[in-house]
Amino acid sequence: MNVVDVKASRHYQVHIGSGILAQLGSKVTELCHPGKAVIVSDSNVYPLYGETAAASLKAAGLQVASFIFPAGESSKCGTVYLELLNYLADNRITRSDCLVALGGGVTGDLTGFAAATYLRGIPFIQVPTTLLAAVDSSVGGKTAIDLPSGKNLVGAFYQPHLVLCDVDTLNTLPEEIFRDGCAEVIKYGILYDEALFCHLEDCGIHFRAEEVITRCVELKRDVVMEDEFDTGARMKLNLGHTIGHGVEAQSGYEISHGKAVAIGTAIVSRAAYASGKCSEITRNRIVDVLKLFGLPTATTFSAQELFTSALSDKKRSGDTVNLIVPSTVGNCEIVPTPVDALKSFIEAGL
Ligand code: NAD
Ligand code: GLY
Repeated sequence: MNVVDVKASRHYQVHIGSGILAQLGSKVTELCHPGKAVIVSDSNVYPLYGETAAASLKAAGLQVASFIFPAGESSKCGTVYLELLNYLADNRITRSDCLVALGGGVTGDLTGFAAATYLRGIPFIQVPTTLLAAVDSSVGGKTAIDLPSGKNLVGAFYQPHLVLCDVDTLNTLPEEIFRDGCAEVIKYGILYDEALFCHLEDCGIHFRAEEVITRCVELKRDVVMEDEFDTGARMKLNLGHTIGHGVEAQSGYEISHGKAVAIGTAIVSRAAYASGKCSEITRNRIVDVLKLFGLPTATTFSAQELFTSALSDKKRSGDTVNLIVPSTVGNCEIVPTPVDALKSFIEAGL
């Protein structure tokens, strides 16, 4: 098992290993002594891992309750959030109890936001079961729910007390969802770590999961410790996302987040080459590794369509969009781009 220490506004550890879900209870009681633990999970994940998690918590002396919601992004909403808060209140959950988010990014974001706001904050544990949640959403304290007018529009920065990632849970992930998470793993290689990128080039989808997840978590930890509240360096995690969000939105969310990010990353890399910001080799390596993982690298949406959607990106400030542009593999820069120049930049990358 690997352990990564995160020293943000809360200090906590990320435990990554095989078969460690059964140790959840003992790890929680090593940290704090909650009377009750509420497992929050979705309708796909709870039947797979709920019993193991509950048995482990009970064996450590905790009372256990479970809140299970329908799987899918549409549950990351105000209605389910309020249902969860009412469930906590009805069950007399107090600040000395804790929530356990057992699932992917939807579960983690919803549970984290409930934990941040119920009684003005109660402890919560992240137990990620998707690759995306393992390498990204479970670490760093971004929690949120969606509004009808946009994703993640209501949220809080609220760090978990512990992240426990049992890599064996990834074995039951549908392949398409695993590939979506791979787009985020590739992102870390392009942003910060050429050695990680080379490992992905060599192994493709059969990369060494425990090792690669640990490396991604270390990289995310470093960014979060530098810029917990997302005012500078953390923006780089947005690589491929501004144009990717455009692809997602234009497809009516038919194209998954991971695939949209892959397309966004490929477009930005081609545009970077066209504008002299990276070499042909860098562009080709990025596009080729995305293809190696079975991810798409092109779209039929026009530059105008992508531009229109990119303008509603949360990270736009005034008339400028901060694009994350690869210089070499392992090194990207934040390029403030005037809105006027964005459409031609996208055009160059299509
Ligand atoms: P998700 O939680 O909906 O999981 C995807 C699907 O996989 C669901 O159907 C789920 O039931 C199923 N599933 C999960 N684990 C499984 C397993 N082990 N075996 C079988 N099925 C399993 O989605 P996601 O892709 O994990 O996360 C996407 C969400 O994460 C989005 O809402 C996004 O906004 C959010 N996100 C948050 C952050 C952050 O920093 N907080 C970062 C990136 C993404
Ligand atoms: N997933 C982006 C971030 O945590 O900042």
